Amino acid sequence: MITKYTSGSPIDTEAVVQSFPPRKITEFPFKNALGGGKFTFGFEMEDGDIVYGLGEAPRGINKRGWIYESYCSDDPFHTETKSSLYAAHNFIVLSGSKTFGIYIDFPSRIRWDLGYTSQNSAEITVGGTDFDIYLIEGGSPREIVREFRAAIGQSYIPPLWAFGYQQSRWSYHNAQAVDRVIEGYNKADIPLDCVYLDIDYMDSYKDFTINSEAFPDFEAYVREKRAQGIHLIPIIDAGVKQEDGYSVFEEGREKGYFCKKADGSDFEAGVWPGMCRFPDFLNPEVRRWFGEKYKTLTDMGIDGFWNDMNEPALFYSADGLKKALDKASSLRGDNLDLGKFFNLKDVFLGLSNSQEDYSSIYHNIGGEMVNHQRVHNIYGANMTKAAGEYFEKAFGREKILMFSRASFIGAHRSSGIWFGDNHSWWSHILLNLKMLPAANMCGFLYCGADLGGFNENSTRDLVLRFLALGVFTPLMRNHSALGTRDQEGYSFEKPEDFRDIILVRYRLIPYLYSTFRRASETNDMIFRPLSFDYPDDAVARECETQLMLGEECMIAPVCEQNAGGRTVYLPEDMTFVKLSGENVEKQELPKGLHYVSVALNEVPLFIKKGKKIPLCKPAMRTEELDFDELTFI
Ligand code: GLC
Repeated sequence: MITKYTSGSPIDTEAVVQSFPPRKITEFPFKNALGGGKFTFGFEMEDGDIVYGLGEAPRGINKRGWIYESYCSDDPFHTETKSSLYAAHNFIVLSGSKTFGIYIDFPSRIRWDLGYTSQNSAEITVGGTDFDIYLIEGGSPREIVREFRAAIGQSYIPPLWAFGYQQSRWSYHNAQAVDRVIEGYNKADIPLDCVYLDIDYMDSYKDFTINSEAFPDFEAYVREKRAQGIHLIPIIDAGVKQEDGYSVFEEGREKGYFCKKADGSDFEAGVWPGMCRFPDFLNPEVRRWFGEKYKTLTDMGIDGFWNDMNEPALFYSADGLKKALDKASSLRGDNLDLGKFFNLKDVFLGLSNSQEDYSSIYHNIGGEMVNHQRVHNIYGANMTKAAGEYFEKAFGREKILMFSRASFIGAHRSSGIWFGDNHSWWSHILLNLKMLPAANMCGFLYCGADLGGFNENSTRDLVLRFLALGVFTPLMRNHSALGTRDQEGYSFEKPEDFRDIILVRYRLIPYLYSTFRRASETNDMIFRPLSFDYPDDAVARECETQLMLGEECMIAPVCEQNAGGRTVYLPEDMTFVKLSGENVEKQELPKGLHYVSVALNEVPLFIKKGKKIPLCKPAMRTEELDFDELTFI
């Protein structure tokens, strides 16, 4: 049962699609306080209670013991001490002595103290007084999630080929570089469906333009790659380069489509191309305009995109930079002692993503100038909706691959997400695993992390172990940052090990795709914490390193360097399967703890008793897979 409580006049985030008769916030059945521009409420937890949710967020599957913040943040250091990442997914489920779900429909900051200040109490602070809170009661955590998901509408389904293996890098600078990637995979006999075009495919980082030196006939090139079974996936950034003669900029400026400052002038800030303006995606007219710009690329045969830097990420604002440069000039010739030097350094370090800058941005919502801080968390989601709405209108559903960095619940209906700039750290395999069920709870089914790790140099074994988890994630993309070591499967010694792992993905596509579809159509999760399925099993309830997948399986990736396997907990008797290339090795294991060995070229999988999963023959491209010829494990 869902009950909606309303306070003030909430901004419509379009997150919830079902309608519920609103009750007054004064009837909200938790201890609470409304005033001083915020709303605080809380509940007590017993020792074994678990808090699930918050989608793409740091730390564990069980969110207890930390303060999280809903505030879409461009932060490439996903360490344990962070409180937010790129998304704001305001849904939690408490499970244990009491079981209920809470969704806070509010586009600005929310602070979730989930047992940090006091271990057994949760205190949640909504940073405003105009919001809706949905309380979902009755049934198990999984039933609560289903009810919530029905309320927010069906999750995005990408085209089938988006389940193929994808290779990315910042950047494959030109057609030759992209060709080398395809050739590398072809030569190593490793399947591949997509190659990504990061910012350098553009002319001076201008959205919807092509660097014609790097890609002299882009359209012909895209079609040639399609004929080879490869989809090219360009990036689109939120900031529009400020440059006379650049049509997107000029149109946006003339029509007043960019975000404003308090004095009515356009807000300006630097991102990749230097000074940019930012489309006001909160205005439906701007969404329509920007969405249609994607046509420039779809007309050239492009059928997939990733939207980036849409928190929005700001390197510096025009005003902030001026202040910093003035400060630096005023110090010219001075002796910079400790105080002066660090002060100057802080001024420059504080230029990016500054709160002062976010506070100076205004949006046009229904003719009213609304400060950005009130709607910060739906900016990126609306950029992605702009694209999603256009794609659906122009091509119908399930035709275009679309995923975004920043997100808010509601965007799950038109796109997927990736988990942003992780690191080539062993701990980030587990972080990736932990985000999966939480993202699914919030409607984001098409998701995944940068496999191999984005920042810093990776190692061969890390990429292999990361991929062995990525075999199961709907988005299976290897991506790495500028300046890092090559990370493609063929770049390391013994590429056949990479082939063995990636072939398993292709063999599993019929299973993964149908599991995905079913989850979308029935508002269910693909990945679940073990405790969702085994609520009375004390060990399963605490498990943070394994997940249930669909109705049939459990996954448990190896996530330690130099480990030849791992300890795994079986909550019931299962078949332990090692998949490698076309090999399938099976072993029956009883309920309990086991050490299982897993070589670097093997993917471990555990199948429940009485269940079977289909495998198809592998192929070099998703479109070559034969779904009619299946074998079963
Ligand atoms: C951001 C994105 C990353 C991309 C880079 C360059 O850091 O998160 O994926 O490679 O920008 O576009």
